[in-house]
Amino acid sequence: MDLFERVKQLRKEGAKAIESAATEKKLDEVRVKLMGRKGELTEILHAMKEIDPQHRREIGQEVNQLRDQFTERLDVSKKALVKKMVEQRLENERLDVTLPGRPVSLGTKHVVRILQDDLERFFIGMGYQVVQGPEIESEHYNFEMLNLPKDHPARDMQATFYIDDDHLLRSQTSPVQARTLEKHDFKKGPLKMISPGKVYRRDDDDATHSHQFAQMEGLVVDRHITMGDLKGTLESVAKHVFGQDRETRLRPSYFPFTEPSVEMDVSCFNCDGKGCAVCKYTGWIEVLGAGMVHPNVLENAGIDSNIYGGFAFGLGLDRFAILKYGVGDIRDFYTNDVRFLEQFRQEEN
Ligand code: PHE
Repeated sequence: MDLFERVKQLRKEGAKAIESAATEKKLDEVRVKLMGRKGELTEILHAMKEIDPQHRREIGQEVNQLRDQFTERLDVSKKALVKKMVEQRLENERLDVTLPGRPVSLGTKHVVRILQDDLERFFIGMGYQVVQGPEIESEHYNFEMLNLPKDHPARDMQATFYIDDDHLLRSQTSPVQARTLEKHDFKKGPLKMISPGKVYRRDDDDATHSHQFAQMEGLVVDRHITMGDLKGTLESVAKHVFGQDRETRLRPSYFPFTEPSVEMDVSCFNCDGKGCAVCKYTGWIEVLGAGMVHPNVLENAGIDSNIYGGFAFGLGLDRFAILKYGVGDIRDFYTNDVRFLEQFRQEEN
């Protein structure tokens, strides 16, 4: 076949091959076959050497023309294929924005934290500051500063975890009283603080005892603070947490760092004071310990107890949560069963 024929045929076949390539990959194969280093155009160029110069020129022109033509067609085809592919992807991956969303599974606040946050807001509203103290505490702050010298029998009230001879996991939040008293500058005004946090006691864990629980300490020190202030404050806390129709009563008690000391009971919210299993048929539920700050505690912190005085209280946050929500087992607070924890979602604040 003479070269003119071959060019003519290639023009036809090439155009057809380009047109029928359905994917980018196929199109690239066609390009290599037509115009590659071993492609058909190259072959024709090689074959040109053998023909006479006059025809060589003509063929040369035709081959150049054909190359331009192929290049252009390949280009057009490629653009069309890319466009088609994008359209197809858009079609396949179409988002239906009207589909209802899948709910994101969010955790809930822990019930003890819910109560703590609520009480913090309650006290902040009455002008208290929130103070944190260390959980690894020295004997000095956990006991001595709180009027509990070494070998004082009342130390036995709180069996503790010692870390070394002088340090322990704090058995109460009361050491934060001492730490704050030491630092407070009464020229700037009265001291009103709460301190929530974890405390630890050596206990055999059961439904009502845990080696770890949360307390909230409270301390108010100024001139002319009376037991009436303590009673009014505790009563408003009890009503805030357990309901406005709760009655409260104070019973004499003993703590080394308060004198006089009291324990507060709240009328049973379950039976309204008539007597039931929740209140062990007494009509009352014990909720916290409190008292007037012992002069020794003030003096230990360098405060003149003839001028200043105040009250302190310590409430158990777990205990409050148990009573408020009727939780049967204190261990539920830290064994992290989601079914238990999720029940308090609606209480979240
Ligand atoms: N720290 C005491 C306890 O853990 C509670 C308390 C605090 C009592 C402040 C009086 C005043 O039992």
